[in-house]
Amino acid sequence: MRNKGTNIKITVKNHTVSYNDEGPNGAPVIILIHGFPFNKSMWNDQTEVLTEKCRVIAYDVRGFGNSEAGTDDFSIELFVTDLLNLMDALKIEKAMLCGLSMGGYIALNAIKNYPKRFCALILCDTNCVADTPEAIEKRMIAIENIDKYGVELYANESVKNLFAPISFVTNQEKIAVVKAMILKTTVPSLKATLLALTTRKETCNNLPDIKVPVLIMVGEDDKITPPVAARQMHKNIKGSILNVIENAGHLSNIENSYEFNIYLEKFISSVRLK
Ligand code: MLT
Repeated sequence: MRNKGTNIKITVKNHTVSYNDEGPNGAPVIILIHGFPFNKSMWNDQTEVLTEKCRVIAYDVRGFGNSEAGTDDFSIELFVTDLLNLMDALKIEKAMLCGLSMGGYIALNAIKNYPKRFCALILCDTNCVADTPEAIEKRMIAIENIDKYGVELYANESVKNLFAPISFVTNQEKIAVVKAMILKTTVPSLKATLLALTTRKETCNNLPDIKVPVLIMVGEDDKITPPVAARQMHKNIKGSILNVIENAGHLSNIENSYEFNIYLEKFISSVRLK
């Protein structure tokens, strides 16, 4: 039987995951995967609107929010296995998959390896490329700095890159919420995930094989996974839709949830009609 609600705990293969499961019984399922280093609460603005017509599952990736870190080395592949284990445990045969940034890396890897389990893909502020040597070096420095100076400095520096300039004027509250999410993440999870991101594989070569409807969204001021990366994915995924979100940086679903949700709902309605 379905367990409806928020912050539900489920233990699958010795690993405890925290997830929200909301919306009507029998409705199409959408699974929301958060970015790094956040947690499932980053989808609150989307869950509010999506639950009218969809069963919405937002879960905490291993080591984030209220999900256990476990003992395995973190990798995108492990995060994908966790996703599939969760779907199996919840008896979800097929779902729409929506991921932001790291969530998008997980989604792209999941659809590559388990194409039959997904009926639509929403890629937000993400990219299909692997880390460049420069990006790897930056992550290694970040790991060192977390050890030397602590998470507070890491959170302050991260926030500077995450948001569009306009958000520092209009969205101070949201910036504080995101900073709190970063501070809630444990040091071992931050470091293990930074390392996992350095070793992730590119998924660009698989984009032409994606046969389900795809929506790509990106904040116009996203400095981390910029619009040029989104355009490249759009070019390589036949039939995909690209929407650039105004007044938003890397966290477009939070910074301009109004515009983001309009595109998201329109896309989901079109998928439902297919
Ligand atoms: C994220 O938001 O998930 C991160 O910016 C991903 C990354 O650092 O590559």
